[in-house]
Amino acid sequence: MSIIDEINKIKSNFKSDLDLLKLKKINSDEIKYKYLGRKGLVSNLYSLLSSVDNSDKPKIGKEINQLKLDISNEIDGLASNNKNQENKLLDSDYSLPGLRYNNGSIHPLTLIIQEIKDIFNKIGFSNIYGSEVDTDYYNFEALNIPKHHPARDMQDTFYLENDALLRTHTSSSQVHFMENNEPPIRILSPGRVYRNEDISVRSYCLFHQIEGLYVDKNVTFSDLKGTLEYFAKQFFGPKTKIRFRPSYFPFTEPSAEMDVYWGLESESDYRITKGTGWLEILGCGMVNPEVFKSVDYDVKKWNGYAFGLGIERIAMLKYGIEDIRLLYEGDINFLGQFK
Ligand code: DAH
Repeated sequence: MSIIDEINKIKSNFKSDLDLLKLKKINSDEIKYKYLGRKGLVSNLYSLLSSVDNSDKPKIGKEINQLKLDISNEIDGLASNNKNQENKLLDSDYSLPGLRYNNGSIHPLTLIIQEIKDIFNKIGFSNIYGSEVDTDYYNFEALNIPKHHPARDMQDTFYLENDALLRTHTSSSQVHFMENNEPPIRILSPGRVYRNEDISVRSYCLFHQIEGLYVDKNVTFSDLKGTLEYFAKQFFGPKTKIRFRPSYFPFTEPSAEMDVYWGLESESDYRITKGTGWLEILGCGMVNPEVFKSVDYDVKKWNGYAFGLGIERIAMLKYGIEDIRLLYEGDINFLGQFK
């Protein structure tokens, strides 16, 4: 057998021995001794080298050196790999408790919006979503708030370019919906609104509202009161007392604000209710025929009611949150409490 055949035989034997080593059927010292030991197979090759033609010696010598290096690298690589795995096993203590994953939580404002949607969806209101960037027309004009109307001062608006603005209330979505749909209508429109106000404990430059709109034939103010009373009792509890106070909004006539009785027992009740025990939670009223005219509804045929709730206010009450800014800071420690 030529020395080249001998080299190839050793290569293929080593391959199968390596497989045995991987399966731990032999250990690395054994295999090292067999190939690289003083009387091992590779050393034997060096003694065969003397019988090779001088002209072939450098080439074959090089080949044997390479084989020796390869075998030694393979064995050492595998051995250190096995050691690592053994160490890993030794490092694991199966009696320790498992790792906990943080599941996150739902934002308190989202929780409140969901709860309010559930209450109104049960009595036939469906959810729609308006756009936060809107125009002067939808936010004001079509809602019977013409330019220079003093009611515009109540809402400090962020104006954008070309007549666009950030909506100051969700009432704008009423107009969009009525433009594209015929009565009867029963919708709820939750979302963000923006006002250019100084940021403080009680006010922020953005907040959330839910708008409600009901349009049908022969809708009465007592339908409105009944619906809102149902809502208040579902949300705040069956014994909740409510009251309506006359108010003014350009898009409803007559208009009212609804208060819930909060109580006057603790010092914080005094602070929150300004000493009255009552808390305003929404504005409402019968849709002003001027609004129907801007969406081409027949005012002799249709009438309806609308209402608008402030979500932050309700969330702060429900969870006892004293600073509105906490709702926008994304602090995990704060948010993690609402699981
Ligand atoms: N858009 C009013 C606001 O932001 C809230 C409101 C009042 C909405 C009366 C209504 C309503 O639909 O009828 O202050």
